Order: sequence, then C-alpha cells, then structure tokens
Amino acid sequence: MLGKQTSQPVGSSVPGIREQKRLRDKFGRAITDLRISITDRCNYRCVYCRDGETPGYSDMPFADVVRLANLLVSLGIEKIRLTGGEPLLRRDLLELVHALGSLKKEFSPQAEPIDLAMTTNGHLLAPLAQPLREAGLQRITISMDAVDDETVTRITRVPGSLRHVREGIRAAQQAGIEGIKINCVLLRGFNDHEIESFAAFSREHNVIVRFIEFMPLEEGRVWQPEMVVTHDEILARLQKVHAMHPLEPTATGETALRYGFADGIGEIGIIAPVSRPFCGHCSRIRITSDGKLRTCLFSQSDHDLYGVMRRGGTNEELDAYIRKIVHGKEERHHIGEEGFQKPSRSMVHIGG
Ligand code: 5AD
Ligand code: SF4
Repeated sequence: MLGKQTSQPVGSSVPGIREQKRLRDKFGRAITDLRISITDRCNYRCVYCRDGETPGYSDMPFADVVRLANLLVSLGIEKIRLTGGEPLLRRDLLELVHALGSLKKEFSPQAEPIDLAMTTNGHLLAPLAQPLREAGLQRITISMDAVDDETVTRITRVPGSLRHVREGIRAAQQAGIEGIKINCVLLRGFNDHEIESFAAFSREHNVIVRFIEFMPLEEGRVWQPEMVVTHDEILARLQKVHAMHPLEPTATGETALRYGFADGIGEIGIIAPVSRPFCGHCSRIRITSDGKLRTCLFSQSDHDLYGVMRRGGTNEELDAYIRKIVHGKEERHHIGEEGFQKPSRSMVHIGG
C-alpha cells in the first residue's frame, strides 16, 4: 500500500522533530545499519554459501542504488556496507563508492560522513585497494577461512585462491585502509583445526580476525547443528594457548564479541548468531542485488522496494513503504528451534 507519509512518532526517547523521523521497528530498535548487495554473482563457491547451481537475479543499476541509499540515509542510516555475492565483480564500482562516500549522517550535528565499508572475498582486491580507499571506502572485511592453501581451496573450491586473498589483504594494508577484518566461517571437519593458527595470523599481520558461527543460509543444504563451532568452544581453544581478555564493544549494535591478547597485539572477534543471538539489538536492514528490502537474514519473504521505484514511486511513497516494512521487522531468528524454516533465499542471494 502506498500513499502520503503519515506522521508517526515511533521514537522512544523524548525526540525532537528530527529524531521522530528516525527509522525504527515496532520493538523500538533504531535502524542505522544498511547492507547493500550489489551482485549475487561470485567467483568462489564456498561450501557454506553457494554451489553455483541457482540462477542469479539481475543487478540493480547503480543510479538506483544511490537514490535508495540517499533516501535511507535521510531516515537515519549511518553505516553502509557493500556486499554480494562478490562486490568487486561489478564494473564502475569506484563511482558507486565515490557517490556513497559523500553521504552525510542525517542525525549528527556535525554532518559527519556515513561509515562506508565493504565485505569481499579479496580475490580481485589487490589492484583495487588503493583506488577504493581514494574513492572513499573507509573499512573493509575480507573473507579468508583458513591460513593454509589446501583448506582454503577445499572451502572456496577455487584452486590457488589463498594467494590472491593474501595479496588483497596486503594491498588493503598498504593502501592504509583502517580496521581491516578477516572473516572466517568455522565449519567442523573443514577448518576448525585452524583456530590457533588464526590467532597467530592476527598477531603477525596486525588484523582483526573474526570467527563466525556457521548459519543455515547456504545453497547446498549441508548445515547441521553439529557443524557449528560455538563461541564457547572457540574461546576455550584460544585460551589454551593465550590469555585472552574481553574487550569493550566499539559500537552499539556490534555483533562480534571482542577478545584481546595480553600484550595488546592482535584481536579476535567471535560472531555467534547461533549460540548467542544478538537479535535484541539488531540495527540492520538489507537490500538485495535485485532491490528487495529484507528486514532479517532469516526473513521468510522480501519486499520489492525496487519495484515501487520502477513504477514511478516518489520519495514520499518510498519513505512510507520503507517505514511500513521496517516496522514489521522480525523480533529474532529461530535457528536451532523446532520448526525452524530456512529463509526464503540463501546468503549469496541476500548479501552477507
Ligand atoms: N554462515 C555464516 N557466515 C556466512 N557467510 C556466508 N555464508 C555464511 C553462513 N552460512 C559469511 C562470509 C562472509 C560474510 C559476508 O558472510 O564468510 O564473510
Ligand atoms: Fe562468494 Fe562470499 Fe559466498 Fe564465498 S561466501 S561463495 S566468497 S559470496
């Protein structure tokens, strides 16, 4: 249903007029974090993600991505992360980064720039790291699921991929991109023997390594509860080798539990959506590569935001549509519970 935006004070504090505009769901969670998938194509076939058998959707043109991003920033989005599929496969990416990098936070008195980040598998990153930084990319997360070549190949199913990823990480460091994070999805029987080596990698290369619990979001339907290496198990394994101590969260809505080493060199994050869900302070929404709005990774349906736009929707209509969808954001996911249903799309068709 479209129509003129009604005035709806959804804020919980004592909001000024501007605060009342802020996007919130019916549980009062402020939505500040937007993930935009810019393609569902990928040059890898990670076993926990895609098997490459499902046909992809068509990518939304960048001009439309920029329009939606502008609108969402005016509603209080403060962080945008570009994801995929593999975002570096899109041509003209630098222009998109440039356009998004100049957006300013709506609710900040100093009109600070929004926080612009990207998640990539790193394969094509080496030549692009410096240009991306110059175009305005502030932070980058690179997926790397093992420190040894054979295990990486077993997971990505692309021989030799580790060398490209390592070059990408090095180039990102040389380009001066800050807070480089390495994401490692742990799968029992594949790469759980690498936990200790990753701790050494974090310290040696001065990067934040984040272990992620495997979620049932893959195309190949291989997820079993026993395959999940939980937060507690990861921490216990690390603590056998290092005296780890918890670190304060750096931002509200942060999903990783952070741990430091005694000498302050290196950092480990553990993202534990399965064993320690963080839905209660979720601040995220997602736009898929074909322009669907999703309010949860595990949503059973998505919402055709791009369709509203293509039918000539005005900014006011889009604004009302977004508010209505966000209002209905799911309270939480139900992984591991009886009757759990897999989401309507797998991760590669949602955006990580
Ligand atoms: N479970 C957990 N994390 C996943 N990712 C992709 N699929 C899954 C899954 N099933 C991660 C990728 C990447 C990020 C976008 O999401 O490793 O780092
Ligand atoms: Fe590609 Fe990332 Fe999925 Fe691996 S996890 S197949 S790199 S989209």
